[in-house]
Amino acid sequence: MSDQTLSNLLQENRRFEPPADLAADANVKEEAYARSDADREAFWAEQAERLDWDQKWDRVLDWDNPPFAKWFVGGRINAAYNCVDRHVLAGRGDKVAIHWVGEPANDTRTITYADLLGMVSQAANTLTDLGVQKGDRVAIYLPMIPEVVVAMLACARIGAPHTVVFGGFSADALANRVADCEAKVIITADGGYRRGAVSALKPAVDEAVAKAAELGQRVDKVLVVRRTGQEVDWDDSRDVWWHDSVEQASTEHDCEFFDSEHPLYVMYTSGTTGKPKGILHTTGGYLVGTSYTHWAVFDLKADTDVYWCTADVGWVTGHSYMVYGPLSNAVTQVVYEGTPDSPHKGRWWEIIQDYGVTIFYTAPTAIRTFMKWGSDIPAKFDLSSVRVLGSVGEPINPEAYVWYRETIGGSRVPVVDTWWQTETGQIMISPLPGVTHGKPGSAMRPLPGVGAEVVNDDGEPVPNGSGGFLVLTKPWPAMLRTLWGDDERFKETYWARFADQGFYFAGDGAKKDDDGDLWLLGRVDDVMNVSGHRLSTTEIESALVSHPKVAEAAVVGAADEMTGQAVCAFVILRESALEGGEAAPDELIEELRKHVQKEIGAIAKPRQIMIVPELPKTRSGKIMRRLLKDVAEHREVGDVTTLADSTVMDLIKKKEGAGA
Ligand code: WTA
Repeated sequence: MSDQTLSNLLQENRRFEPPADLAADANVKEEAYARSDADREAFWAEQAERLDWDQKWDRVLDWDNPPFAKWFVGGRINAAYNCVDRHVLAGRGDKVAIHWVGEPANDTRTITYADLLGMVSQAANTLTDLGVQKGDRVAIYLPMIPEVVVAMLACARIGAPHTVVFGGFSADALANRVADCEAKVIITADGGYRRGAVSALKPAVDEAVAKAAELGQRVDKVLVVRRTGQEVDWDDSRDVWWHDSVEQASTEHDCEFFDSEHPLYVMYTSGTTGKPKGILHTTGGYLVGTSYTHWAVFDLKADTDVYWCTADVGWVTGHSYMVYGPLSNAVTQVVYEGTPDSPHKGRWWEIIQDYGVTIFYTAPTAIRTFMKWGSDIPAKFDLSSVRVLGSVGEPINPEAYVWYRETIGGSRVPVVDTWWQTETGQIMISPLPGVTHGKPGSAMRPLPGVGAEVVNDDGEPVPNGSGGFLVLTKPWPAMLRTLWGDDERFKETYWARFADQGFYFAGDGAKKDDDGDLWLLGRVDDVMNVSGHRLSTTEIESALVSHPKVAEAAVVGAADEMTGQAVCAFVILRESALEGGEAAPDELIEELRKHVQKEIGAIAKPRQIMIVPELPKTRSGKIMRRLLKDVAEHREVGDVTTLADSTVMDLIKKKEGAGA
């Protein structure tokens, strides 16, 4: 974020009070902050009572061997039982769990908690039949259909950690994840719907199974949901149709309870190096953290609210706030399969109107897109049911916040800007809608039970009015336990930077305003945030360099009005690619963009690729991405004195001027 943007942000002084009626009846009141500060463990133990335990814990937190935490030690629990069975047993079987809305018009399904229990039990029986045992990993590569929720809960039910891979990732990305966590089974579909068109998934899985085998991981079974009915290649010894197996299985399944620290899932996310990190979440603490924060942050009234989180289940938001948080709280929620503009640009608002959505949770990139499309589109729909609006994934700029509040929230609805990460598992910093003032662009305060600070290089808290690094000062229940198979990298990535203080280093910059409220300023490392999706500069660089014509590549995230940041790549070609003298034909650039799409996925495709003769490097050979960012953002190039060769930037600027 530029200094100019930063100072604009800090001049933002609009304030919105919590609505009086919401405040009067709020789930969480101001006193919760002081109470949780006084005894954090007692506070979380109280929240753990929200869940059904087969056996209670003997110790709330074991932090004897930091940074390896254990929460609710000795407790026994089943996540699926807490998300489904107990609601049915409590007489809520007829309550709608999911109003599923398919992208094609009139393609909808209504699933009650009793239905969900039957479906999850069937899938659990089938997975067991396919040889999946407690502790085995299962990869899930599905579109946003009810079966994805069923598959996740079925895995949880039998104690098989799932790893959901976003359907937009390529076969290569899927293969790498399958191999890294040694998944034996993949659950997928023939395809899905996107913007009115049918897209295929099964061919990517076939390719990924072959690639995973090359990486040493054998996939025994592929369970396939028929969603579109398109033609698929079939391997009888390996592939199993969902409708031939799951839908024929018994709807009875006795669930076993697992240790509180039993692995629940692995979610891969981008880090600062090329290799994605497998974030490990375990059962008891994760469920306590997501269940409490979902109830607190959205002021959830489970009997009357209709909740909708628009995130894809392939990301952590879909895990914590579409599956585990909401279902453990017995909500009725909307799950929508498609894109916001299909078949028309008012689709989301139509869904809110049709289902009477009261709590709506989405990302700034979507809000900015709707702003661009115009306020007259949502104005055509009745949005009066909405009472809380949430934002997640990237800093929300004040204009987008105010537009969201006014246009979708009728100027009466509070907006909660929620900061958290794949690693944190649960929302960490956010206003509480019945307690906290809203300041456009600020995530405000750490939630009750959470410790956060902004510190300087030495790990000392900065005074109000200054900025620094965001750290988390105390362990929290849904925290990641480690990186899958890599304890060292876990320690190094998150706990080494402020080891003396024992702080968790989030990788984000933040500022405290004069009231001490927090403003998140984006990443301070080589991680980009494109449309709320985390991408690693290094991972995209490696993808580019794996192309035979590329000698070297540097990638930066440049500010972009719509997507927050956009991927901009600077590429040096190999001599052989330059033979014939053509400078940088458009076809080559397109070929490189497609190559990145193939290696990682469409979300990583660079917006812009510049072919350059050199890259700016320090004398020790480190690429100075800061300078490339200046070029990509069309700014005056900053200080070049530490460059090994200061003329390099002139060459690059000349290229840019030539429109390469
Ligand atoms: C960014 C998504 C500002 C941040 C839940 C973080 C945010 C990264 C916000 C995690 C927010 C997320 N304000 N920045 N409200 N929410 N971020 O793991 O940079 O996909 O480190 O988790 O997104 O992205 P992730």
